[in-house]
Amino acid sequence: MAGPPASLSARDVGSFAYLTVKDRIPQILTKAIDSLHRHKNELFEKHGEEGMEAEKKAISLLSKLRNELQTDKPITPLVEKFVDTDLWNQYLEYQQSLISESDGKARWFYSPWLYVECYMYRRIHEAIIQSPPIDYFDVFKESKDQNFFESQESVITLCTHLQELKSRMEHLGREQLKNEFFRLLQISLWGNKCDLSLSGGETSAQRSNIIHSLDDLKPYILVNDTERLWSLLSSCKETEKASAVTVAIVLDNSGFELVTDLILADFLLSSKLATEIHFYGKTIPWFVSDTTIRDFEWLIKQVKCSEHKWVSRCGVDWKNYVKTGEWVYLDHMFWTLPHEFCAMSQVAPDLYAQLQKAHLILFKGDLNYRKLTGDRKWEFTTPFHQALNGFHPAPLCSVRTLKAEVQVGLQPGQGEQLTAADPNWLTTGKYGIFQFDGPL
Ligand code: F6P
Ligand code: MG
Repeated sequence: MAGPPASLSARDVGSFAYLTVKDRIPQILTKAIDSLHRHKNELFEKHGEEGMEAEKKAISLLSKLRNELQTDKPITPLVEKFVDTDLWNQYLEYQQSLISESDGKARWFYSPWLYVECYMYRRIHEAIIQSPPIDYFDVFKESKDQNFFESQESVITLCTHLQELKSRMEHLGREQLKNEFFRLLQISLWGNKCDLSLSGGETSAQRSNIIHSLDDLKPYILVNDTERLWSLLSSCKETEKASAVTVAIVLDNSGFELVTDLILADFLLSSKLATEIHFYGKTIPWFVSDTTIRDFEWLIKQVKCSEHKWVSRCGVDWKNYVKTGEWVYLDHMFWTLPHEFCAMSQVAPDLYAQLQKAHLILFKGDLNYRKLTGDRKWEFTTPFHQALNGFHPAPLCSVRTLKAEVQVGLQPGQGEQLTAADPNWLTTGKYGIFQFDGPL
């Protein structure tokens, strides 16, 4: 049987991968450098001269990285000892072993896009941890927080909607509950439009009333397996009455998207469709806006401190869910490795085993989809199950807006029609999917 198709790569001049490596990634590096510059005074106040020196060092390491990238220098091993350093360096060796042409070196504009893009964020982290005492500094923190503040109106709308829904939850019939579930799933899907790496770190807050837009956005959902999610969770609720039903949410972006995910998670508990939610976040700053434990805790605190009654009520409830253990935040270095998810059972068997215990896993966002499918040149009609390439820890669903040139599981002709109508349909975040894999 033929192996999986080739990886997306910046080698394909003009592709989205190429444009990302050529333009977007250097722009993100420049913004990271700017962020260090802007916090110079603060770092001085905190750490004195030592802080200033560390800031300079981090800036020079990041500038060097930008130069390596722009001149397509070979990818180099990581040097700073950290929990995942050996795995990264082994992965580089593996990538080099795949190259038969030229000098056998992995390069930015030659190697798989997924690998080089992940490597760039890992190198940013390396620059920071090589610069104590500012080795805790998150160069993306400011933009993540800004995204949350700029989405305040939508946050108020969603929190008010949730509290109103919770107040009548007990009186909802099965059909009504199902419709509310679908609504909150769609809100969480469109929340994924707001990531900051697609916009090169520029603000991309949610400003319109998302609840009113849902009907208009429906035609943009290209694969909609939400009925299967409902049958799975509603049958768990009926059959597993006394025991726990765990939904795992593999988080993506902080800021507005995280609010939509927490709203969905709150609904799952309040409606008793789930009894426990496991959130998986990143251990290091990642793809600009991805959620770390600091972002997760910061956001809940902000929501709790809001002057708006229903927003703050949400914050109080969320804090409480964390306290009681109904919500658990978990992280694992695997999420910030370059590996496709089909390698998880080998590379991170503990994480795989943990995920196997979930009744359902929701994978938020585009990067997770790229890792689910290996970021490869699949035909649009390839079954999702096949593209997962053996990754089936538990029933799972990708909740993703499209921001990369990979999509599987479409109907024959659907991809071609979309290309004819909207040549950039794969990369603008305008289209979305709920793509499920699990028992029929
Ligand atoms: O380049 C755009 C991009 O960085 C993609 O590489 C990546 O898949 C996406 O943005 C991140 O999106 P998300 O936050 O939905 O994973
Ligand atoms: Mg992201």
